[in-house]
Amino acid sequence: MRDFTFFAPTRILFGKGKIAELPQHIGAKKVLLAYGGGSVKRAGIYDELTSLLRAAGIEWQELSGIQPNPKITSVQEGVRLCKEHDLKAVIALGGGSVIDCCKAVAAGVFHKGDLWEMVEKNAVKHALPLYAVLTMAATGSEMNGNAVISNMALNEKKAIKSELLKPVASVLDPTYTFTVPRFQTAAGVADIMSHILECYFSDVHCAAVQDGISEALLKVCIEYGRRAVVTPTDYTARANLMWASSLAINGLTSCGTGNAWSCHAIEHQLSAYYDITHGAGLAVVTISWFDHILSEKTLDKFVSYGKNVWGITGEHPFAIAKEAIAKTREFFASLGLPETLRGLGIHSSEYFHEMAKKAVAEDLAHAYVPLDEDDVVAIYSTSL
Ligand code: NZQ
Ligand code: ZN
Repeated sequence: MRDFTFFAPTRILFGKGKIAELPQHIGAKKVLLAYGGGSVKRAGIYDELTSLLRAAGIEWQELSGIQPNPKITSVQEGVRLCKEHDLKAVIALGGGSVIDCCKAVAAGVFHKGDLWEMVEKNAVKHALPLYAVLTMAATGSEMNGNAVISNMALNEKKAIKSELLKPVASVLDPTYTFTVPRFQTAAGVADIMSHILECYFSDVHCAAVQDGISEALLKVCIEYGRRAVVTPTDYTARANLMWASSLAINGLTSCGTGNAWSCHAIEHQLSAYYDITHGAGLAVVTISWFDHILSEKTLDKFVSYGKNVWGITGEHPFAIAKEAIAKTREFFASLGLPETLRGLGIHSSEYFHEMAKKAVAEDLAHAYVPLDEDDVVAIYSTSL
């Protein structure tokens, strides 16, 4: 195991009704309240939160309409509101896109100059305190310091990363995820699994703690992902997925093991060019990546994955590895996720080389299995 520093300062308020405790942790009296396209209003969560803020004497300005794959234009609008009204904290009410946008706003308030440049250069120097009320299990943004922002004019999707962006407190009420549509629930499960797999498939051996946690979290995703898509109001399923989403990418499974994240670098380009749903893109890419990297060198890890996560038995390592890949593919399909890029509306290889170049620039020479542009083009091509 490599040396590491683990720092997870976010206070988690987990459970039904825990939002009532949020105002006591907010140290500001004027805040930005941000949300997406309206699901939080339809579900009544917006009313619940604003009643609590009113009762606590906290004033707010609103940033609404934050889109999936949040755009730099929303960040610019949020920063403008914070500056104009002298807001001292940010509350994100939504999924990963809303939380990520709010992180960029929280940092952007202190950035002198162009906000896209801040994202491109990961130039986070300071940030307003951030609070999150999570409405969907997927990205883990509620407990980490990452924010992924898109600039559609440039076909770019970039991440900023800083400890300063870790939420002060996050509300995780599983009942808030009852209304998440089947497709988004499934995409969320694929995203959580990918966060775990990106670290689990590592060239660092003897990380028994991280491996064990990863395998347990993967099994949670499989069991409760199946249940949540069938019965959206299954509290146990939603609760387990919600907590798995946070633990998958709060540093717990990546500490001491990390390599560059191949599938995320490859998928982020698909979102940047085609604005597709992140988790759905990952489900397709992960299978092609698995097929691409399976070799004598990676076989042991595939066998561990097959035996410990999928319960595959047998004597022949390659057979176990191939069955593990097949089971992953079948699982994603059983959730209702597309199995190809065509299923996501991408019908042409036009941008494969362009996207591969950008993906490789995300340090894929230092991935678990190093990838060059030809490798990535091959992965896109077999995904089509
Ligand atoms: O906009 P609204 O109306 O709220 O609808 C959203 C949106 O259409 C809907 N939704 C969310 N909660 C709901 C709900 N609908 C009904 N009931 C609810 N309770 O779901 C749709 C998708 O929401 P979004 O926030 O985009 O999903 P997700 O949480 O998957 O976030 C995806 C974004 O996060 C980035 C992705 O790249 C993508 O931009 N990621 C962020 C990471 C991080 N910060 O650490 C890591 C990830 O790997 C990922 O890259
Ligand atoms: Zn992800």
